[in-house]
Amino acid sequence: MEKIMSESNSVQRELIHLLHDVQNKFGYIPAQSISQISRELKVSESEIFGVLTFYKAFTLKPRGKHLITICMGTACHVRGAPMILDEFERKLGIEAGETTEDNLFTLETVNCVGACALGPIAIADGDYHGQMKTREVGEIIKKLKQEKGKSIE
Ligand code: FES
Repeated sequence: MEKIMSESNSVQRELIHLLHDVQNKFGYIPAQSISQISRELKVSESEIFGVLTFYKAFTLKPRGKHLITICMGTACHVRGAPMILDEFERKLGIEAGETTEDNLFTLETVNCVGACALGPIAIADGDYHGQMKTREVGEIIKKLKQEKGKSIE
């Protein structure tokens, strides 16, 4: 049993490691890469899809250069997260889960990032913005547009 578990864990670890590498390279997991990984690791494509859908860090759709994530967990929600999300959607002209036409911004939501006391929270390219106000949304977008070198890659 221990042998089976250790082999299984090592394949799982290798799969996650590979998926991270692919996503870091392309910004998402292209469908073609799933077949290649399946053949390489001898893991079924459905198992790979299971991992991809379990871990929110992976995406099957190309993301924009900058990733903005709004926490919609309960604590952030009651502190005004829907208004923050609305403002990002309005200013970027997209809805949550979409990417702007110029591929500059992807807007996503998440349920709790573990910093509830700081809610509502927006995460822009990994930087946490706590106690967000709608008037700060434009400034975050403007700063990201000015940051040429920094992105989600
Ligand atoms: S609900 Fe937003 S950080 Fe917990």
